[in-house]
Parts: sequence; C-alpha cells; structure tokens
Amino acid sequence: MLSVVVDGFFGDTGKGKIVSYLSLADDADIVARGGVGPNAGHTVVYNGKEYKLRQVPSGFVNKKALLLIGAGVLVYPPRFFKEVDMTNTKDRIYMDYQTGIIEDRHVEEEQRSEHLGKKIGSTKTGCGAAMRDRVMRKLKLAKDIDELREYLTDVSLAINEALDKNKVVILEGTQGTFLSLYHGTYPYVTSKDVTASSICADVGVGPKRVDDIILVFKSYVTRVGSGPLENELPIDEAKEKGLFEVATVTGRIRRVAPFNFKYAKRAVMLNSPTQIAITKIDVLFKEDRGKRNFSELSKGAKKFIEEIEDRLNVPVSLISTGPETDAMIDRRRELGII
Ligand code: IMP
Ligand code: MG
Repeated sequence: MLSVVVDGFFGDTGKGKIVSYLSLADDADIVARGGVGPNAGHTVVYNGKEYKLRQVPSGFVNKKALLLIGAGVLVYPPRFFKEVDMTNTKDRIYMDYQTGIIEDRHVEEEQRSEHLGKKIGSTKTGCGAAMRDRVMRKLKLAKDIDELREYLTDVSLAINEALDKNKVVILEGTQGTFLSLYHGTYPYVTSKDVTASSICADVGVGPKRVDDIILVFKSYVTRVGSGPLENELPIDEAKEKGLFEVATVTGRIRRVAPFNFKYAKRAVMLNSPTQIAITKIDVLFKEDRGKRNFSELSKGAKKFIEEIEDRLNVPVSLISTGPETDAMIDRRRELGII
C-alpha cells in the first residue's frame, strides 16, 4: 500500500502533520522522504513536544516505522545527525547509497549569492548549489562519506520489497507544487521538481505502484521568499485575520493570500490526487479547533470543504483541526477509501 503526500501550494501546508498522523493511523511500516533536502521545514507536534524537521521523515512518531531518505534527496550531514539525535531514531533511519551530500562550501556559496538571496529569496541551505554539482556529476554521495556508513541502504529495493509484501509505505514530499523547478513560478522556485511523480522518482518507485496520492492544501495560501502570489493580503490584514505565520527554516514572515481555486485546480492536474487533505481549518474557523468528526464542524467549515470537493472533484478525506498529530478528522472510512 503506497501513499504519496505532496503539497498543492507553495510549501508549508502541513505535510509534516499529515504524514505524522498517517504513520500512526495506518501503522506505517516505512515512511520515506523524497523532495529536495534541508531547505524543507516540517513541523510535528506529538505528545506535547514540537519537532522541526528538515531531514528526518515526519513519520518518526510511529516507533515501529523504518525511516528512509531517497537517492534523489540531499542530506547535510551535521543537520541529519542533529535530527537523528533529537528524534532518537539512530537504529531505524537509513538513506540511499546515492543520496546527495551538501557540503559547507555549498551553503557558503549560497549565503554569498545575491541572486539567490535578494532575487529568489532562497533558504540558502546549499540545496541549489549541490543540485548543480550533481547535474555536473561532481557531487559527493552518501556512500563517499565515512561517518554515514552505518546509515546506508538500498532505499528503492527496501521500498519495492516492502510493497511486494503488502506493507504500508508513505512517501513524504517537500516544498509545494508551485515551487517546482519545472511547473512552478520560475525563477522563484526551488532546485528540483517536487510534484508527486518526482517524489516517487526520488525514492525509486514506479508510478504504477502508487495507490494513493494525498494532495495537501492549507485553508489559505502562504509563500515565503519572492515570486508571484495572487490576491496577496497586506500583512496587517493577514495579522487581523490570524493568518500570520513565520517560516520554519529561515524565520521569515510568510506572505499570505486566501485559498486559491485556480492554483488548487492546477495542482490537482499536476499531481493527480486520489484524496485531498485540508489543514488549519481551525485557523479560519476558530470554533472547529480539535474536532474529530465532520458532523461536528461549523456550517462555515462544512461549506468550505464541500466547495473544495465540488470544484476540484476530489474527496477531502483528511481535515486537520490543530497542530497536534491527532487533531484530525479522518473521513476515509466514511468515504469508502479504506
Ligand atoms: P531554495 O530551494 O532554498 O533555494 O529556495 C527557493 C524558494 O523556495 C524560496 O522562495 C524559498 O523560500 C522556497 N522554499 C524552499 N523550501 C521551502 C519550504 O520547505 N517551504 C516553503 N518554501 C520553501
Ligand atoms: Mg515548511
């Protein structure tokens, strides 16, 4: 059973929360990270503790799950070791032999780059510079780094064999559809494609093996860094509406816009989701905080979800009602999905 979780806007829609929920609810055997690298920031709130993850898959909260990082992903070893420590996952986390390695010189190069800093608004975590070196075939891979020896495995083989045995595998994407190098708002994008197809390629599974693609939208749109954002709200208005957020990795203020059906439709086209997850419904509808049943939702929230289903023609199977992993309305049984 293979599920792929990807973001339909500009990142920061709450993939970390969705993946952590699914890893427990579906008792995942493997949670594997695709996407770019430590430019991502995924937040998990579990057992009263907040984790800000940039390398370790958000499904670590399921202690039984094997945690994998795909060959297409980039790892910055100091950050990786720090998170492995923080999540206490040393005995069950592995990366592919061919996972790309970010070196300090990549980070330093990006820190110096006016183009990435001033124009693009990059996170300057070395991802773009490392991707360039990879394309030029001079990037070091995980198998070249002695300190990573105990963390190496054949990730695509592990995932494909697990699927052969009907095990539960969740793939965690990063960034968001419109930050895709190919399909996003170029040049204000990240250094790779990040749609569902690429997340599969990052870990080495073919598209025919996918059972579910879960496209995550936040109840409003945010964007950090430069580039177009339709119907962007003045920051004061965003604050007034309670939509003010600060970026996980860089601490920058996130730009805000209302939920955007034009973006959402295109994200559906680009990712072919079987399900949609809506996060932060409790930010738009405060009274819905922590609810666990669709029937209990306020009229406004129900109308919002029904409009999404009508206009996008994809079922909204998961509705997040708070930051904690278990603050979730899970409609998959009611909708006949599981
Ligand atoms: P880079 O990938 O760090 O070079 O950043 C390129 C653009 O993507 C910038 O606008 C970043 O703010 C944005 N970006 C990269 N990673 C994330 C993420 O995980 N969430 C949100 N925005 C991101
Ligand atoms: Mg983020």
